[in-house]
Amino acid sequence: MRNLVNILDLTTDEILGLVRLASDIMEHPDIYSESCKGKILGALFFEPSTRTRLSFTSAMMSLGGQVLGFDQAASSSVAKGETVSDTIRMVSAYSDIIAMRHPKEGAPIVASRVATVPVINAGDGGHFHPTQTLTDLLTIYKKKGRFDNLVIGVCGDLKYGRTVHSLIAAMSRYDNVRFVLISPEELMLPDYVKDDHLFQGGCEYVETENLESAIPSLDILYMTRIQAERFENREDYERLKDSYELTASKLIMAKEDLSIMHPLPRVTEINVDVDDDPRADYFDQAMYGRYIRMALILMLLGTKGIDDRRLEGEERAGVTCANPHCISRTERGIKKLFDEYGKCVYCDQYI
Ligand code: NCD
Repeated sequence: MRNLVNILDLTTDEILGLVRLASDIMEHPDIYSESCKGKILGALFFEPSTRTRLSFTSAMMSLGGQVLGFDQAASSSVAKGETVSDTIRMVSAYSDIIAMRHPKEGAPIVASRVATVPVINAGDGGHFHPTQTLTDLLTIYKKKGRFDNLVIGVCGDLKYGRTVHSLIAAMSRYDNVRFVLISPEELMLPDYVKDDHLFQGGCEYVETENLESAIPSLDILYMTRIQAERFENREDYERLKDSYELTASKLIMAKEDLSIMHPLPRVTEINVDVDDDPRADYFDQAMYGRYIRMALILMLLGTKGIDDRRLEGEERAGVTCANPHCISRTERGIKKLFDEYGKCVYCDQYI
């Protein structure tokens, strides 16, 4: 059985296969309209979502399947103190595949270890969001026709922006991809993303606070929302929330074939005057989310027999992960595991 917890659970060949399958589904939706007849998707959203939840629902329905689940933790037994593991054990019995979003980092790892059906991470705290990345990759494939030789600017909340972390992990595997990391100092990319992906992938990058000066060099500009819900204190959010605003006038020096992307929802970081620019690809990007999730569901439902539930790591006497948002701090009955470098196997933060 295969899960999608981290975008690196998929090889680059598999990603290309998914992107091609999604393209085929877009062209011939009728061929796939009964492919998941009799199958049920458990959509467990312990945290708010519009696009991700609705596009998963739309994807399963478009494949002829059905969907059950909840869209807030308050309406599930989590409100009564149930662990992630217990909830997932139950939903495994009621569905054939699970998509889950959870505020705790590493929660989908915990889920995938007890689930008897494939688990898809639909966003875990400020950690990863691999299905948004698949959506982003389909957008890049459609708009650019390649995954290599790209200069990608990512702008906004690079600290808590889980879509950015997964996008960087995915893109750092292709040749000659360079990143321009644009953020206020307090919202810079976490070290674990730099170490595990940029350094290991031998990927060049520069860090800057200045959006305007970065724009002319970019092939892709990936804007992100400042993640209000992840801030420890409200004042910091208020001070940083308007750090960036992309406007039509700032695009004058941009490349003619720039692709402007955003996982959405946007707040003020892209002015509506950009929406009519032919380079504004964020609404197409949201639309692609449905088709790539159809491809993913088909792939995962077709991969019975492969077990990727191994979790390598060791306990360290008396040591708990220091990340206050890590699932290992709250989930009862799981071991607190660290790799040989002292990195938590659930949330990837160093102790
Ligand atoms: C993103 C998320 O949930 O991380 N949204 C999405 O899934 N399209 C981005 C965000 O909320 O800012």
